[in-house]
Amino acid sequence: MPATLKTQVGIVGAGPAGLLLSHLLHRAGIDSIVVESRDRDYIEHRVRAGVLEQGTVDLLVESGVGERLQREGLTHHGIELRFGGRGHRIDFTELTGRSIVVYGQQEVVKDLIRARIKADGKILFNVTDVTLHDLASNAPRLHFVQNGERTEIACDIIAGCDGFHGVYRQSVPSGVLSMFERVYPFAWLGILAKAPPTHEELIYAYHERGFALYSMRSPEITRLYVQVTPDEDIVSWPDDKIWRELHTRLETNDGWKLIEGPVLEKSITGMRSFVTEPMQYGRLYLAGDAAHIVPPTGAKGMNLAVADVRTLARALRTFFTTGRDEALAAYSATCLQRIWRAEHFSWWMTSMLHRFPSDDAFGHRLQRSQLDYVVGSRSASTSLAENYVGLPFADA
Ligand code: FAD
Ligand code: DHB
Repeated sequence: MPATLKTQVGIVGAGPAGLLLSHLLHRAGIDSIVVESRDRDYIEHRVRAGVLEQGTVDLLVESGVGERLQREGLTHHGIELRFGGRGHRIDFTELTGRSIVVYGQQEVVKDLIRARIKADGKILFNVTDVTLHDLASNAPRLHFVQNGERTEIACDIIAGCDGFHGVYRQSVPSGVLSMFERVYPFAWLGILAKAPPTHEELIYAYHERGFALYSMRSPEITRLYVQVTPDEDIVSWPDDKIWRELHTRLETNDGWKLIEGPVLEKSITGMRSFVTEPMQYGRLYLAGDAAHIVPPTGAKGMNLAVADVRTLARALRTFFTTGRDEALAAYSATCLQRIWRAEHFSWWMTSMLHRFPSDDAFGHRLQRSQLDYVVGSRSASTSLAENYVGLPFADA
């Protein structure tokens, strides 16, 4: 017989979605247990996204986990699109009245873990063999193994927050969920470098050798990406080759120079768009990358995960305090509106800024025309800006 635990909400995955959900539920007086396959140190140092929408920042601050974010986060009022050897600034604050904050995803994860542990929250690390049972009943169960011991958690609700390879894929009967997917013919090679930023804002560069992105994490650390082919082996990218590509793709005709520094981390991320509909089956609710993936060009991945769990936490609060389930029933449709908008924006940014192997000179001319229009027209700039800073939450 497995050991048995009991909770209101069993959460699979301690990424931004699972941790923030657990935190918001705790603030609403709802008990949860998070199970995570990795150890704490690993997830606190996993380098991923870096741009927080204003709405994400506001939610973290209002819920009491934004103190370090407010101190260390870098507020940016715009980005630059760079092409044809020149930079073109899109001024978010002037166009939308809003801004973004650059703060690493792993720092959000650290802040959330600290808050959960301080509140005696239960996060079980290093679990294996997670399986979901009786999802269509009112008493779903979650099984896992930790330190060789099989454990069952009896739940009222299960939240699948375990990323793209989520365990729900093995648990939901086939045919119940629809999947929509597009895989892109390129990847991003990302580096973290110990080099002071030489530009105050992010630079998205369109270049004939491929896309490049200039970002940062602090006054000492630069974050940079180059477009590479999807099957690229990281060993064929020694540091000097990466810097060469970055110099070529990012530098301008008016003398702007990139400063190099020791490379602290490097990895390659494949790019896809993916949506599961609906984001629910019985008492299982999906949130974050488990339900949808965007290519990183619009900086939407983590922000969407946060928007999902904000909606889910509110619906669960209504459910547990009144027994009414209308908000839970509307969860998937509410989230999918925002998700498809972000899917479109991320696909559009990706299509405008990358070199596609299938494109010919005609395709390249269309991209340049689109870029010229986006930076030249106030309406087109505003459209980019309002999507980038994040549209208001549906139930604000
Ligand atoms: P995750 O952060 O993936 O969290 C899921 C958690 O579940 C993980 O901790 C995982 O270890 C755990 N887990 C998985 N399987 C199990 C299991 N069976 N049992 C228990 N636990 C499990 N977005 C951007 O905007 N910009 C970027 O530069 C960027 N870079 C990225 C690089 C990579 C390599 C990846 C994978 C994603 C990147 N993203 C980026 C997207 C962004 O980081 C994600 O959208 C965000 O992490 C989503 O949060 P999440 O909590 O839904 O999922
Ligand atoms: C970063 C990542 C992104 O995907 C993006 O669009 C902007 C910035 C970053 O890691 O800093």
